Amino acid sequence: MTIAPSAADRTPEDWRSHVAEVLTRSRNRSQMLTDAVDDEDLVRQHSPLMSPLVWDLAHIGNQEELWLVRDVGGRAPVRQDIDELYDAFKHARTDRPSLPLLGPAEARHYVSEVRDKVFDVLEHSPLDGRPLLEQAFAFGMIAQHEQQHAETMLATHQLRAGAASLHAASPPPGTRLPASEVLVPAGPFTMGTSTEPWALDNERPAHMVDVADYFIDTAAVTNGQYLAFIEAGGYDEPRWWNAEGWAHRVKSRLTGPLFWERDGDTWWRVRFGVREQVPVQEPVMHVSFHEADAYARWAGKRLPTEVEWEKAARWDPATGRSRRYPWGDEDPGPDHANLGQRHLRPAEAGAYPGGASPLGVHQLIGDVWEWTSSNFSGYPGFTVFPYAEYSLVFFGSDYKVLRGGSFGADAVAVRGTFRNWDLPIRRQIFSGFRCARDARPEELS
Ligand code: AVJ
Ligand code: FE
Repeated sequence: MTIAPSAADRTPEDWRSHVAEVLTRSRNRSQMLTDAVDDEDLVRQHSPLMSPLVWDLAHIGNQEELWLVRDVGGRAPVRQDIDELYDAFKHARTDRPSLPLLGPAEARHYVSEVRDKVFDVLEHSPLDGRPLLEQAFAFGMIAQHEQQHAETMLATHQLRAGAASLHAASPPPGTRLPASEVLVPAGPFTMGTSTEPWALDNERPAHMVDVADYFIDTAAVTNGQYLAFIEAGGYDEPRWWNAEGWAHRVKSRLTGPLFWERDGDTWWRVRFGVREQVPVQEPVMHVSFHEADAYARWAGKRLPTEVEWEKAARWDPATGRSRRYPWGDEDPGPDHANLGQRHLRPAEAGAYPGGASPLGVHQLIGDVWEWTSSNFSGYPGFTVFPYAEYSLVFFGSDYKVLRGGSFGADAVAVRGTFRNWDLPIRRQIFSGFRCARDARPEELS
């Protein structure tokens, strides 16, 4: 086995083999997720929040065709007639099932035809001369896009009724953590990146941010901790909720996380078609921003800001520099984090000691996406690259930022700088959270 050179020393040939590997891994995942159910299931809409799986599949192929076959490759269109059907801005998810979409067999044929051309483009394109080509950026962007949709497809599987169709081994067991929270000392740190080859536009550029002292939890809030909030009447106490969250809680009659159901004194949940008692040690997931925010207030804490989350994940107290990941600059491996749909659930606290940050914050990467208190906006000096519909059109106060990736996210699509976002009421995503708090003067030495 050869060790892949770090991005800075990769030759064009290294980039080509790296791209081939990540594209193949993402296609294997899309195939697994679409082969796991029958054709009728592929064309059905399992939730008004989601597209039919067959739409995701052809949309993956269409984005790949637009950017890699036509733009990078300068080749003739494979199927120009379908661009409009797979433009996410042209048709709302609710309307997608009634469109004249490619059927399952046609969609599979389409994506493989596109992929064959992409391998040819990869072989013949120079990997420089245009920003889109430098360090194979466009290929990396498309691999990330496919993996983002693979996570969306996994969420569709979770919403789908009926027997289980996906199976995976359990993640490693938890271990006791020495502390439940750690102090992150005040001071500036570098947020975002200007050097990470496949970082998307919203992660750029690197910039200094000054941060006050704060405490952050070493692990995500568990189901058991969240149950205590429910049992204490947290869903009936407006004082724990922000105004918008309380209005939503009332209107939607929320009583607990999505996919949970109370039967007498016992809480059950359905996870990928299997009903089981809520496992108390596992991180809570399928909670909205508002539920996370209410829990934190009840617990006497708050959600971390996005800045605080990233400082905890990247700041190296020994050097003052920001790392790519909590554990260092190495790409994520199976001992660092629960990523890549290797396991179909988040791991308990302490399951990935190899992924802890220097300050002892665990599992910032993988397991569950973590809600932050921050709105999604552009960093100082933000410039659209390569298209405004990825990030720019979502900037503003409608969306909250989530960080760190989930068990459903692939390593190519998660970094210490990676930013996800969603509406504060959404909870079909694999979302959880950890708490933070201001440091009190007497706690500082
Ligand atoms: C970054 C996960 C919010 O799925 O809406 C996929 C990613 N953008 N296709 C989304 C995305 C275009 C995006 N998120
Ligand atoms: Fe997309």
